[in-house]
Amino acid sequence: MILLDGKKTSLKILEEVKKRVAELSRTPHLVVILVGDNVASRIYVNNKKKAAEKVGIKSTIIEFASDITETDLLNKISELNNDNDITGILVQLPLPEHINRSKIISAISPKKDVDGFNPENVGRLAVGMEPYFYPATPQGIIMLLDEYGIKIEGKNAVVIGRSNIVGKPMAQMLLKRNATVTICHSFTQDLDNKIKTADIVVSAVGKKIVRCKMGNKNSVLIDVGIFRDSNGKLTGDIDFDFVSPDCKYITPVPGGVGPMTIASLMYNASKIY
Ligand code: GUN
Repeated sequence: MILLDGKKTSLKILEEVKKRVAELSRTPHLVVILVGDNVASRIYVNNKKKAAEKVGIKSTIIEFASDITETDLLNKISELNNDNDITGILVQLPLPEHINRSKIISAISPKKDVDGFNPENVGRLAVGMEPYFYPATPQGIIMLLDEYGIKIEGKNAVVIGRSNIVGKPMAQMLLKRNATVTICHSFTQDLDNKIKTADIVVSAVGKKIVRCKMGNKNSVLIDVGIFRDSNGKLTGDIDFDFVSPDCKYITPVPGGVGPMTIASLMYNASKIY
């Protein structure tokens, strides 16, 4: 069993991004919008800012109280879309209940949508046109697979979870690389059998869901989940101790997909259209 070291790979990618930024004719400027006082969101946003600083990308966090109106938020996005100094816009999710998330994401210019969540970028990926940006988590996972020389073409890939942030774009990106993709979700029957026979498993659920005896000893297991178990320890979707002896590659939690997501986002933030 080989650990897929997301920490080490992310540092390599951040170095490459830093070089790329230094060679640009102008400095990219990422604006991160944080609405409300979600503790986890604040940590994520601060981590994004720190990573941006490290690679020479200018970043600004704009904070709004949780009672900001949808109109005011849309107006801010419009202002940022029209500001030539701003090259990337990211609205941290989740948003408060009274704000329509799809409306906000759709308002971000596709050419500044570093998350790749705008329907134009999602649609471009779906129809085989190049999106301006790929969503950071699945893009980071592909980068990690590529770093380890793991072949995707022709493989049976099982994606567990169908979120717009991870599951759906992950499936599209694996499909683009010529994998045969199965998307599993809460209504899927016989999940264990699908996992056992897969070549590549990507789990993005947020629950301990992968804990079967692997039938395919050459399988590659990617754990997107990160949460605290009943003892307060950070853990993922995959029962690492149970499953890891019977696979070829596996990501640790933490130190796997998490750091790759940040590096992948910085790669996106270094692009100027
Ligand atoms: N909340 C959880 N993941 C993400 C992400 O990738 N982007 C944004 N904007 N918010 C998130």
